[in-house]
Amino acid sequence: MTDASPQSEGDLAFFEDLQPPASDFRADVLAGLSRPQKALSPKYFYDKTGSEIFDRITQAPEYYVSRTEIALLDRIGPELRDLAGPAAVVLEPGAGSSVKIRKLIDALDRPAAFVGMDISGDHVKAACRDIASDHPDLLVGAVCHDFTQGIDLSALPLPDGRRVVFFPGSTIGNFELDGALALLQTLRGWLRDGDALLIGVDLRKDGATLEAAYDDAGRATADFNYNLLKRINVELDGTLDPSGFDYRAFWNPYRSRVEMYLQASRDMAFSVAGQDFMIRKDETIHTENSHKFTVDTFQDLARKAGLAPRTQWVSDGEPFSIHWLEVSGEA
Ligand code: AVI
Repeated sequence: MTDASPQSEGDLAFFEDLQPPASDFRADVLAGLSRPQKALSPKYFYDKTGSEIFDRITQAPEYYVSRTEIALLDRIGPELRDLAGPAAVVLEPGAGSSVKIRKLIDALDRPAAFVGMDISGDHVKAACRDIASDHPDLLVGAVCHDFTQGIDLSALPLPDGRRVVFFPGSTIGNFELDGALALLQTLRGWLRDGDALLIGVDLRKDGATLEAAYDDAGRATADFNYNLLKRINVELDGTLDPSGFDYRAFWNPYRSRVEMYLQASRDMAFSVAGQDFMIRKDETIHTENSHKFTVDTFQDLARKAGLAPRTQWVSDGEPFSIHWLEVSGEA
């Protein structure tokens, strides 16, 4: 369903289905595999299996990101309650595991509503339903949506009240810098005076820690990458052989990012959606970047997007930051 009228679904106050068409996946994969540096968009990692594997990544001992951000959210809960005030309307683009949003909802002063948005409709519906049944006084809605695309929030039955857009996990780091700026501008467009963007941003640290976090010994991150090849095989009639690829992750200090690749261990011919491809031994498919910021480099980017940093917090242990940003004039 793509019409504008949101529907109520079970415990949910509404469910809006703005799922991108399957043709986007096919077109993006074919274009990415046709480039001199083959590449796949990380947004396609998150089918049902991919989302489950990502949950495994968040549990990996080397992947400090999730547990560090959760501990920081616990620490700053009382401050968030004061900043947001009562009856906030919380929106979460890319709603993943519900641990973090539950922390925020519990920290806030009687929030009025929560809207989860995710590219995987089943995932977001299930997560939002669980939240609705645990918070009977909260209006909970779900949207199946690619958050990099525009959305008309006025079509959703949102109550009045301060909007807090919650974007945890340092997902902003998975975008090229121009894409990160564009996404911040999009999120800024959801805010009115007095509203806020609460965003988690991972910080630069030593390369060994980063490379271990993105190539865990339990192979969850490798499986996450192989799953994308399997998804292409199933959904796009592909003939990729995941066992012909090695997973590689390395820290690029010049671009301040961890880069992730699948590297062919032999020459392979394959096809996707009827189109033939060749990959040579040692050639790579670039699957993801995870940019790491300093507080200053991130806040400079936020200012360029028309967002004014009001408060930021840095974790104990591995450095990770959370920022409270408000609208500042025109972007
Ligand atoms: C979702 N995102 C913030 C993760 C990250 O840390 O960049 C994605 C990820 N890819 C491999 N491990 C984690």
